[in-house]
Amino acid sequence: MAYIRNAWYVAMWSQDLNSQPQNRLILNEPIVLFRDGRGNIAALDDRCPHRQAPLHLGKVCESGTLQCGYHGLEFDKSGACVRNPHGNGSIPKAMRVKSYPVKEMHSLVWIWMGEREPDYSAIPDLSMLDNALPEHVTRRDFLSMNANYELVVNNLLDLSHVAFLHKGVLGNEDSTGAQVKVTQEGDNVTVSRWMPGVAAPRLFDMLFQRDGRDVDMWAEITWIPPGSLLNDTGVTGIGASREAGSGIIGLHLLTPETEQSTLYHFAAVRTNPRSFPPDIETQIMRDLSDLRRKAFVEEDMPMIEAQQRMLGLGNGEREPVLLEVDGGAARMRRILQQRIKSETASGISAP
Ligand code: FES
Ligand SMILES: [Fe+2]
Repeated sequence: MAYIRNAWYVAMWSQDLNSQPQNRLILNEPIVLFRDGRGNIAALDDRCPHRQAPLHLGKVCESGTLQCGYHGLEFDKSGACVRNPHGNGSIPKAMRVKSYPVKEMHSLVWIWMGEREPDYSAIPDLSMLDNALPEHVTRRDFLSMNANYELVVNNLLDLSHVAFLHKGVLGNEDSTGAQVKVTQEGDNVTVSRWMPGVAAPRLFDMLFQRDGRDVDMWAEITWIPPGSLLNDTGVTGIGASREAGSGIIGLHLLTPETEQSTLYHFAAVRTNPRSFPPDIETQIMRDLSDLRRKAFVEEDMPMIEAQQRMLGLGNGEREPVLLEVDGGAARMRRILQQRIKSETASGISAP
């Protein structure tokens, strides 16, 4: 399995990285992330060059170095071994680990997996997370799915599944007649669904009229390669403008762990929030966090993981028979292939 390597992937939410080293598996590479005493972050190969002990089982020293928990070698943020506590303290030249460029932005820790110079302007613009009032942002949450990340991107770029898999809460069968449009800007692909005069799904009724009346609904999801998706979705009164409605931007941030497992960070930011009494507001935000997590964990995840297991059965892979609603996912696949091919051709993809 090839991946786009010269790109930013989400390693974790900033809030989850403290002085305790954390391990992640990203593109099949074991990585340890930590903060030094001054709050600066670093990411290193998680294998100590001495005896391959995982460095995340060690600790961050006061000087900001990461100490291996096995025999106490210490490494700085560049991956150089800077202290050998044994004997005369000499340090073999080869005693160093790879370090990865990392950047904290939009309350996330991003990691650059390629060999090219990191392009900091390529971090997706998730400034809605920074600009929204904290009380309009859901829990910054994550889960791990036993499925290839492309299956999760397919799931999100084809939101026709919402009518069946998330029936009632996020969608309903009224939305199967949605007008679907696929557009592309650079390598970003957007799939727009316009669903006039539909029964209001529970989550959206909760954010808008709270009376169960029918609505016009939209969902515009944009994929930013390789793994970021922003879903601008909401409802408004029938025939009214979108500005008169209310909704969310759902953020879905996918990082391949292995060929068959994906780290999935998610959150949502309210758009055009209506004002409700404080106790209702508190309840809305709790329900918004809980309902979305429940939908992903109890509805999407079992289906996508089961789909992954099916792909491994029988004689060889079957080509999917596509529908009109798959236009966005097909484009995504082409773009991924092109990007991977151009990295391989230029010889810069090797880890
Ligand atoms: S394995 Fe790390 S110091 Fe020995
Ligand atoms: Fe879903």
